[in-house]
Amino acid sequence: MDTAIDLLSSWMNDARSAVFFGGAGVSTASGIPDFRSAAGLYVTAAGNGREPEYLLSHECLIAEPAEFFTFHRTHLVHPEAKPNRAHLALARLEDSGHLAAVVTQNIDGLHQAAGSRTVHELHGSVERNHCVQCGRAIDLADIPDEPVIPVCPDCGGMVRPDVVLYGEGLDEQVIDASIRAIQQADVLIVGGTSLNVYPAAGLIRYYRGHRLVLINLTETPADKGADLVIHSPIDEVLDTVVQRNCDTTPR
Ligand code: APR
Repeated sequence: MDTAIDLLSSWMNDARSAVFFGGAGVSTASGIPDFRSAAGLYVTAAGNGREPEYLLSHECLIAEPAEFFTFHRTHLVHPEAKPNRAHLALARLEDSGHLAAVVTQNIDGLHQAAGSRTVHELHGSVERNHCVQCGRAIDLADIPDEPVIPVCPDCGGMVRPDVVLYGEGLDEQVIDASIRAIQQADVLIVGGTSLNVYPAAGLIRYYRGHRLVLINLTETPADKGADLVIHSPIDEVLDTVVQRNCDTTPR
């Protein structure tokens, strides 16, 4: 792994518009399970009669809101989770002018909590919620544990999370901003994602450079086309990159 990390460090030291494209594997070191690994949510929560992909769908939100919110609050909301070394390293790379943006499929808000400023959340965020009736925006911290189905304090309507559920489309502006960042990237690091879910996974095709880096515990469909592949924990890899030859003096 060392020579690969040395190469990545030198690429990042030279980078002025790098982009990080990430998924649930970036947050496992913060105690948030991913989805498709052996300990992932879609494995551990499956088989209880209701498939997780249904419980996280627009259909379930509308037809069985109590089921939806019980699953959402139990498995997708992690108020105790803190940014790990991967989040912190990416924030330092942005502060020092090497990284231009984070494009994430995650909805946990940990990149912003670590200090990252340009974060494109393709699947939204559990931190942001809104009333389906009057549209009032409500932060996660202001939503009580009871009733299970959150109620708008203004109009009594249902308050839902601003996350992209199965059966819903992604925000066009977020997609456009993500594509622009990836098209302009000198280095694209893809990490902690199985690249299973579209349209998100398809965005990495917009990268036009020759420094495509894959950092994932397991092989992904993009490994073959990558210029550098590191099958190691992303928190360790990114932390080593910023500790080693990459000058991260804030600019
Ligand atoms: N370091 C590197 N890779 C890791 C780590 C780690 N510490 N922990 C897990 N991984 C890898 C796993 O091997 C796996 O390949 O991260 C990947 C996570 O893949 P998924 O669980 O499929 O998560 P993700 O790719 O983010 O899923 C995309 O699917 O259900 C939807 O909306 C959900 O945003 C999610 C989307």
